[in-house]
Amino acid sequence: MSELSIKHLLGIRDMTRDDLELIFKTTSEFKEVLNRPIKKVPSLRDLTVANLFFENSTRTRLSFELAQKRLSADIVNFSASSSSVKKGETLVDTVNNILAMKVDMVVMRHPHPGAPHFLSKKVKTTIINAGDGTHEHPTQAILDTFSLREKLGDDLEGKRIAIVGDIRHSRVAISNILALQLLGATVRVCGPATLIPKHMSDLGVEVSHDLDETLIWADAVNMLRIQLERQGGPNSIAFFPSIREYTIGFGLTQQRLDKLDKQLAILHPGPINRGVEISSEIADGEHSVILDQVENGVASRMAVMYLLARQ
Ligand code: CP
Repeated sequence: MSELSIKHLLGIRDMTRDDLELIFKTTSEFKEVLNRPIKKVPSLRDLTVANLFFENSTRTRLSFELAQKRLSADIVNFSASSSSVKKGETLVDTVNNILAMKVDMVVMRHPHPGAPHFLSKKVKTTIINAGDGTHEHPTQAILDTFSLREKLGDDLEGKRIAIVGDIRHSRVAISNILALQLLGATVRVCGPATLIPKHMSDLGVEVSHDLDETLIWADAVNMLRIQLERQGGPNSIAFFPSIREYTIGFGLTQQRLDKLDKQLAILHPGPINRGVEISSEIADGEHSVILDQVENGVASRMAVMYLLARQ
């Protein structure tokens, strides 16, 4: 297969295993380019991409922008906080005005679930979802599964992957579950009962509230951040008694890993709350895949944009 089955990248839910395999193969090719002295290719030199960020981002925004520059695309960057959205302009009007400037592709992060899906029906351009509220974050799942394959081998069939923490508010969790299942992995979510929505078992994942037992079970663990900003505000703790008690129950520490008779691959999508869901020595330790994930984010986003531009 040399083409994706999708016209937009809205969510892993719309993708096939062949789509993921094609993206992985193309990511490997671009990763090789990124390790050359000259890291740039002319693949998208006739393409103009708008990066529309209606919500904060460091890794996703910078890696999309770097990926576009490595592919020689022209770029316009839009940040809602300094735009006419503040004066009441609608999403469709904002995007149509940007498209009138002859933009071919839109990369979009938005706090409302479904915003990129809505937009894809209203405007004639390729849309890439860079995270929509608590719904999906497909490129994060692509770079996470690519990084897992580098650690565990290309075949994730039957591998046991645990996703730990604030599942309720996590678009990364949903997209990772869907991608890992397409690739044949067994997925378990682990966290306090208040942070695991009831529909999780309908997705065919295992549910656990015991981190130590989950670590014994898993081949790799993806630690998620507690998203206090989606729980009622940056200082609002609504789903567990205190940060300290959360860490005692669900924080990944060296003490916990020392009890295991094996090594685990340890992922985190970032941003990290050091000392909360993961200790600094683990985050910076030899089994951490965290900076590999960030590195792979550039090559995998190059692959996604390159393949969508050929549709
Ligand atoms: N992982 C991730 O989406 O990070 P940012 O919010 O910094 O983009």
